[in-house]
Amino acid sequence: MNALKNFLDKTNQLLTAGKLLKVSLSHYKGNIEDLKQCIVKPILIKQKLKLSFTYRYKTKDLFKNYDLGEGVEKIGQYINAGFQAATLFSASNQLNLTLHPKGHYILRDEKQQSQQKKVNQISLLKHDKQKQRDIPENTPFLKALGLTNEKGEVYKIAQDKFKQINHYIKLLKPAITELGSDNINVVADMGSGKGYLTFALYDYLSQLNSNVKVIGIEYRKDLVEFCNQISQSENFNGLNFKQGTIINAELPESDLIIALHACDTATDDAIYKGIKNRSQMIVVAPCCHKQIRKEMEKNKPSEDLKLIIKHGIFLERQAEMLTDAIRVLWLEYFGYKTKALEFISDAHTPKNVMLIALYKKEPSSKTKQEILEKLNNAKKFYGITLHHLEYLLTQNHLI
Ligand SMILES: C[S@@+](CC[C@H](N)C(=O)[O-])C[C@H]1O[C@@H](n2cnc3c(N)ncnc32)[C@H](O)[C@@H]1O
Repeated sequence: MNALKNFLDKTNQLLTAGKLLKVSLSHYKGNIEDLKQCIVKPILIKQKLKLSFTYRYKTKDLFKNYDLGEGVEKIGQYINAGFQAATLFSASNQLNLTLHPKGHYILRDEKQQSQQKKVNQISLLKHDKQKQRDIPENTPFLKALGLTNEKGEVYKIAQDKFKQINHYIKLLKPAITELGSDNINVVADMGSGKGYLTFALYDYLSQLNSNVKVIGIEYRKDLVEFCNQISQSENFNGLNFKQGTIINAELPESDLIIALHACDTATDDAIYKGIKNRSQMIVVAPCCHKQIRKEMEKNKPSEDLKLIIKHGIFLERQAEMLTDAIRVLWLEYFGYKTKALEFISDAHTPKNVMLIALYKKEPSSKTKQEILEKLNNAKKFYGITLHHLEYLLTQNHLI
């Protein structure tokens, strides 16, 4: 019985340290029909660490989440109820628990030695990298948002978010430097969601400009309350979240307008607000692009495009590129120099384009005319009668 107890203790230990990758239960000989395997992984739900159980049956998977203590107990119960093997995975260990034919358990540490070397190398690299991060692991707001543990270490399952936060700051830095952080006093983050990126930007900017105010606009009340609570507990006096829609948000004059993964035309709402407000900088990472896709499907573009749009996936990607290319042209029309970059690796999400626009100067009427021609030609070629951003600009007499 000691081997089983040690296995569960080790699971608990790794879990608390944020180092558990997964536990796999196999060789099922119990009474539940067709049950083959059970995979247990840590998961963050509403900023709380839980254990997610995937029960693999012959023809289906079932899922259930448990609080940590109860989850570890369940692992023990399942092993006693028929799983004759269990494996615990962490970066440095692979512990195998097996039931011996004589009825006792045997515990073996498969990878400890060979893995330890690798882990040491990784942590050296990590240490080097950590020094260069704009938002280091031990930044307090990361813990408040549930991304790091008591020791200020990023949970395994929060690694992607942590990387995204730092990559975001890295992408924005050149434009912030070009504009001058003293000129960035009011920032509006539209569709701020759970606020990870809003907190990161505030944390970064407030070190350069102590007067900076960042406002998150979000229509989900629960997220607004959650973010305001954390902002207060972290004493982020210049960071506030307001409930509302992007299009109706009443903002002070904002130097920087941001919309990251705001759905469909909400990105256009944010760009429109930025243009209307004459914001010095507009940053968007568009999300889904339904509006243009529907237009293309409805109005049938030119013959030359049929070979592309007859396939749904090509049509979707074409619509994405086109929507963003049209956004860039409108930004240029209003005097913004715009860069299109990869926001996050497409291994994580296909919605990975970021547009960073900096206001330069009002273009000449000749340049504006040329841009309008490009826009009209593109719309004709792709069968688009209206782009939502153009609609907003027209309705509000900006063009
Ligand atoms: C996919 S999340 C992205 C959150 C955050 N910007 C990020 O990138 O991590 C999009 C958020 O925008 C909010 N949202 C979408 N459209 C909105 C609108 N028109 N007005 C206000 N909030 C909106 C949603 O409620 C959601 O929380």
